[in-house]
Amino acid sequence: MSLTTYCPADGTRIPAGSLTWRCPVCQGPLDLDYSPTPSPLKSLTGRTSSMWRYAECLPLPRPDCTLGEGRTPLVPLTAEVDAKLDFLNPTLSFKDRGAVMLAALATRLGPERVIADSSGNAGTAIAAYCARARLACTVYVPEGTSAKKLEQIRAHGARLEVVEGDREATARAARTAADEDGVFYASHVYNPYFLHGTKTYVHELWEDLGGRLPESLVLPVGNGTLLLGAALAVAELHHAGLIDRRPALHAVQSAAVAPLARAWQAGSDEIVVDPAPAPTAAEGIAIPNPPRARQILRAVRESGGAFHTVTEDQIRHAQLDLASRGLYVESTGAVCWAATREGGAVGGRSVVVPLCGAGLKTGLAPDHGSV
Ligand SMILES: Cc1ncc(COP(=O)(O)O)c(C=O)c1O
Repeated sequence: MSLTTYCPADGTRIPAGSLTWRCPVCQGPLDLDYSPTPSPLKSLTGRTSSMWRYAECLPLPRPDCTLGEGRTPLVPLTAEVDAKLDFLNPTLSFKDRGAVMLAALATRLGPERVIADSSGNAGTAIAAYCARARLACTVYVPEGTSAKKLEQIRAHGARLEVVEGDREATARAARTAADEDGVFYASHVYNPYFLHGTKTYVHELWEDLGGRLPESLVLPVGNGTLLLGAALAVAELHHAGLIDRRPALHAVQSAAVAPLARAWQAGSDEIVVDPAPAPTAAEGIAIPNPPRARQILRAVRESGGAFHTVTEDQIRHAQLDLASRGLYVESTGAVCWAATREGGAVGGRSVVVPLCGAGLKTGLAPDHGSV
C-alpha cells in the first residue's frame, strides 16, 4: 500500500516510505493520509488474537517482528468503571502497539540505525521490536529515568544514551541524531504510524463491549499518543456507522507538568512552556512541550471531554488503591484511576481507564507525608 504523510498545520505532503520524519516547512509532526473502514463485529470471529486482527484498519501488514501485542483484558473496578490492562503487553506498556508499527516500517526502509527518544516505555518498546527485527537501535532517555526501564532497554541490545537534563533536552539530542544519514527516527511523537498502532486500544474496547464504546474514555497525556490513537479509532468506527455516539475523551496530566491542562483552562490553543516544571512520579507524562499540543486540545474539545490534573498524593493513593485490588501498575499508569476514583473529577455511567505500564518498572510513587 503506497501512502502519503502530510503536515496537519500547513498541508505539505511527503511519501510515507521515506526517512523524512517531520514537515520540512514548519518542522511539525506528520499525519498519515489513511481512512480505513473497520469490519463489522461478526467478521472478527476466529481472527488472530492480537491487534493484527484489525488488519483492514492497519496501514501495514502483520510483520514478522510481531510479539503478539494487543488483546489486553478488560476488568471491572467499580459498577461504572472498567480498567483495560495494557501493562500486559509484551514489554509491559501500551507503547508496544505503536512500536511494532515503527519497527515494521523501519524493516521496509532498511536504515543503518533506528533512533528513539523516550521517558522510558516507548524506548523500551522500540528497543524490543528492533531486537526482534534485527535492527540496530539507539535510545535516548532523560537522566533520572527508572532503573528498571534502563535495564530493559540495555537487555534488548539497544545502545542507551542518558541525556543530562529533562525530557525536552533528550528530545533535542535525539532530533539532532535523527537528521544524520541512514537513520530512521522511530519517534512515537512525530511518526503517525505509531498512532495507527495505539488506536487498536479502542478497536479492542469496541469489540469487547459487544460493538459499543463507553460514555467516557480516560487517557493519560504527555505527548498524547494513546489519546490521539483513540480519537482516530473513534472516528473510524463512527464513520463506518459502527457506533452512533462518540465517547468523551478525558485527558489526565500530572499537576506538576500540565501544559495542556493549563491551556485548556485558559481556553487557549497554545501551550505556555514552564521552563522549570516540578518533579513528578508520573515520569511517562512529564512532557513540558508536546509537539502535537494543538491536535490533542482539539481532539478533547471535539469529543466533549475535558482535561484533568492529579496531584502527587492522588497518584500515590491511586497506585496503592489499585494494588489493593490486585493490580500493580507504575505511577504513570495510575493517573487515570486517580482522576476517576472517589473524589476524582471524571464521572459517568460507563468509563474505561487504561492501566498502561507495569508497577515493577518504577515501584511506588514516593510518599510525601500525607498517605
Ligand atoms: C505508562 C505510561 N502511560 C502514559 C504515557 C503517556 O503517553 P503519551 O506521552 O504518548 O501521552 C506513557 C508515556 O511514556 C507511559 O509510559
